[in-house]
Order: sequence, then structure tokens, then C-alpha cells
Amino acid sequence: MRRAKITGIGHSVPDRVVTNADLEKLMDTSDEWITERSGIKERHHVDESTSASDLAIEASTIALDSAGMNPEDVDLVIFCTISSDYFFPGGAVQIQEKLGMKNIGAFDLRAACSGFVYGLSVADQFIRTGAHDTILLIGAEVQSVALEFDTDHRDMAVLFGDGAGALILQTSDDDSGVLSTHLHSDGKHLQDLWLPAPGSKYKPFMSKKLIDEGLHTPYMNGREVYKNAVTRFPEVIHEALTHNGIALEDVALVIPHQANLRISQAVARRMGIGMDKIYSNIHKYGNTTAASIPIAMSEAFAEGLFKSSDNIILAAFGAGFTWGSAAIRW
Ligand code: UT7
Repeated sequence: MRRAKITGIGHSVPDRVVTNADLEKLMDTSDEWITERSGIKERHHVDESTSASDLAIEASTIALDSAGMNPEDVDLVIFCTISSDYFFPGGAVQIQEKLGMKNIGAFDLRAACSGFVYGLSVADQFIRTGAHDTILLIGAEVQSVALEFDTDHRDMAVLFGDGAGALILQTSDDDSGVLSTHLHSDGKHLQDLWLPAPGSKYKPFMSKKLIDEGLHTPYMNGREVYKNAVTRFPEVIHEALTHNGIALEDVALVIPHQANLRISQAVARRMGIGMDKIYSNIHKYGNTTAASIPIAMSEAFAEGLFKSSDNIILAAFGAGFTWGSAAIRW
């Protein structure tokens, strides 16, 4: 049976490191509060001249090199992001053009923190049907430009960072690759984590009034996100295991969206597994939304935490709410 196999991987983060101590100078917060509530010690923020497509291109170039491929070998680009350079069109076309790819299909996918798992599912379906053979799948975000670095917005400002990760997906010719993906949503939680403006809800869709009302900055009901995340993560991880008849003991690594260390620890407790089985690099990058899973996969692979034939599980939860998982045999 055809399925998608990962043949290239890479990630990139901006050079500028913003520590908790740096944030203490901008708002009423503390290293102690941030570390205790989220596990984050530092995150990377872009400089004036760097946008999400730039980070995406850096990660894509590394992924292509690791696959031993050229940009013209790719036949579809899927760019998972909620922070594309412009309101429209999506950033996938910038990647196609700047990397010198052929006139292939290129589109953005907006499913926030679940974006990369949603994107992997879409890519896998295209490969399974035979519609495409070689897909560049990217998760990249520049969240720092949407945040307000003051005490009124400190709950969000300390959590998010910028970065990108990319995979090359090709047709598997053995029993390795994406075994299954599982996608879910519950839109009644739309306003628990959202950035209301600009949008077609407003006439005009962007105005000084919207900015004066603070609708251009993201809002999060942290408690509600936390409560739902610690239930949905274990649920959707179990769904992937059950679907494939894989026992937890036979999983080399669970790679969750890096939302918050406390969420990952609660998931580990609920599932009865140690934190050695749940990958975490949130202390270095914060929450990079759709980029967090491919960055984590890329680092975990480089650290030798899984190898050929190992089972790994990806799991994500975020705005929408949306959540999902993927079972992969490497
Ligand atoms: O991809 C999904 C992304 N989102 C998440 O993963 C977030 C999930 N939620 C959480 O992890 C937690 O809800 C937070 C870490 C966001 C917040 O932790 P909490 O224990 O739920 O804190 P809280 O919002 O109830 O706030 C407790 C206190 C408040 O002060 P008062 O009212 O008790 O005086 C906040 O104003 O902490 C205050 N606070 C802060 N203090 C220092 C909120 N943000 C900060 C901050 N520094 N950055």
C-alpha cells in the first residue's frame, strides 16, 4: 500500500534569543513564574527583516539537503502557518518561487497549533492516492510580531516564539511511513484562543477602531485551553495506538506539540509513562505553534532518539479547538 515516508527533515530558528530575564524588563513577570507555569526559559524572535517565509525557506533548504534532493524534485508545497507574510496569498507561493521550484501546487493550511499534524494528514492522503510523489511540508511561524510585550498581555507574551521545521515526504516502498492520522475539532471553543481581527466579520475588515479595541492581538483563556489539552492529548494518542494495534511499550517516542511543559507532564501522568518517552524542547523555543512539532522531530532525530523501524506518535492540540495525532514508523 502507498503511504508517505519521511525522507528529509530540517529546522531553523532566528538567531535572536529572548530570555525570561529579558521579558522581566518589559513587563511584570518573573523567570520563576514562567518556568513554573510553562517550562520555558527562552525563545527565539525574528529581527526586523525576517518573516515566516524566510524561516520556512531556511528549514526547507536543510530538509531538501538531508533528502539529497533539489527543489525541482518537489511536486507539491504545503505550508502550515497562521502567520504568513501577507493576509493573502498564502506564503507557500513565496517558498515555491524563492527556492526555484517548478510551477507546482503550493498552498497554506491554517489549523494553528494542530496545523502540522493536519498538514501531514493532507500530504499523506495525496501520496496514498497517487496524486503526488514528493511533497515539501513546512510548519513556520513568526508569532513575536503579534504579541504585545506589556503587563496587560503577559500571559500570551511569555509563551510564544518563532521558528520553522520542514519535512520531505515521498512514497514508501516498505512498511515504514505514516501509518495513520486522526483529526478532530470543536468550534464551540473558537473564542478561547483566537486573534479576532482583521477579518471579514468587520466592515471594513481592518480599521483603527479594531486596533483601539485591541482585537488585533491574540487572546487566550489559558485555563480552558489547559483543561481541554490534558484530556484531548491522551485521547488522540490512544486513538493512534489503537488504530494500528501498537502498544505504548512499542513506541520509541511521543512528540507532542510544544504547548507547555506542564501539559506534557500531565499527559505523561495520565498515560502512565515517564517523561523520557515524551519529547520536550519547549525550554529553548517556547510555543512555536505549527512549527513546534517539526522542530521537535528534527531535534529528536538529530539526538538519535529514534531510528529506522521505530514507531513514533505525533500529537497536537490548539486553537479552534483542533487536535490530532499521527502514527509513524520511521
Ligand atoms: O497551543 C496551546 C497554547 N496554550 C497553552 O498551552 C496554554 C495552556 N494554559 C496554561 O498553560 C496556563 O493556563 C497558563 C500558563 C497560560 C497560565 O497559568 P495559570 O495557572 O492558568 O494562571 P492564570 O491565568 O490563572 O493566572 C494566575 C495569575 C494571575 O494573577 P492573579 O489574578 O492571580 O493576581 C495572572 O494575572 O498569574 C498572573 N499571570 C502572570 N504573572 C506573571 C499571568 N501571566 C503572567 C506572567 N507573569 N506572564
